[in-house]
Amino acid sequence: MIRSVVRGNGAALPRRIMKNADFEGMVETSDEWIVQRTGIRQRHVAADDETTASLGEAAARAALDSAGMTPAEIDLIILATSTPNNTFPATAVEIQNRLGMHHGFAFDMQAVCSGFVYAVATADLYIRGGLVRRVLVIGSETFSRILDWNDRSTCVLFGDGAGALVLEAQEGAGAITDRGVLAASLRSDGAHKDKLFVDGGPSTTGTVGHLRMEGREVFKHAVGMITDVIEATFGEAGITAQELDWFVPHQANKRIIDASARKLGIAEEKVVVTVDLHGNTSAASVPLALSVAVADGRIKKGDLVLLEAMGGGFTWGAVLLRW
Ligand code: UT7
Repeated sequence: MIRSVVRGNGAALPRRIMKNADFEGMVETSDEWIVQRTGIRQRHVAADDETTASLGEAAARAALDSAGMTPAEIDLIILATSTPNNTFPATAVEIQNRLGMHHGFAFDMQAVCSGFVYAVATADLYIRGGLVRRVLVIGSETFSRILDWNDRSTCVLFGDGAGALVLEAQEGAGAITDRGVLAASLRSDGAHKDKLFVDGGPSTTGTVGHLRMEGREVFKHAVGMITDVIEATFGEAGITAQELDWFVPHQANKRIIDASARKLGIAEEKVVVTVDLHGNTSAASVPLALSVAVADGRIKKGDLVLLEAMGGGFTWGAVLLRW
């Protein structure tokens, strides 16, 4: 059977790093509160010339380099983002043009923090359906542009960045030992819309709006939703948590990550944590975490890796793959 195998990965971060202490003169907060409640120590913040398209392009180029491929070999670009350069056209199309790619097709996928997990699952279906052979899956965000910088309950939590994977169709045996995407589960429930949303949009206010979140409410639901969808994914693949090599969760809050891993019985040393470095970069958080764990030699070819995310909507999901 056809499998969607990871051929390369890459990442890009804005030049400017903002430390927790940099907020202390702006809103009533402290490094101590932010570290204790979230695990975040710093985040990257985009300058005017750094956009979702430019960061996404840089991550895509890095992923292509690591795959030893050129844009000419890519059939499809899926960009997961909630902070597109423009309302339309899709920022994926802009990235396609920046890469000098004028064949194939490109589209944006909007599932907020779960966007990258949704995009990998979608790319896998296009590949297994035989429609395309190679897909660039990108998560790129500039949440700094939609934050209310006077709201301490949200502005300290998010950061900007991008990450990307190149997936390629390869023949597999249909076994759990195959490389590539092995299982995926996606969920959403719009009943939770008001707990995490942006208070503007083209069809309502005609403005971009600002991110609003009832953090405590999101927190309350997060661990249960994450662990349910992961257990469904384990069930689909016929594996247990003990067989995993790496757990690469969405990086929103260290306490959510720890509680989810504990509930699932995933050992602490198998959990990739980058929330301290990047903050919550929404759809970029999982591929950014992957890039760190690949670069430092933790994730290696053949490792069994679980991706997970949960965010606005609510949306949530998990992807199991062998690197
Ligand atoms: O990526 C999408 C998914 N998003 C998430 O997963 C986020 C989920 N939620 C969270 O991570 C946490 O709920 C937060 C980090 C947002 C907040 O942590 P918490 O432990 O749930 O704190 P809280 O909201 O219950 O607030 C505790 C206190 C409040 O003061 P009072 O009401 O107890 O007097 C807040 O006003 O902390 C206050 N507070 C702050 N204090 C200092 C809120 N933000 C700050 C801040 N600095 N930046």
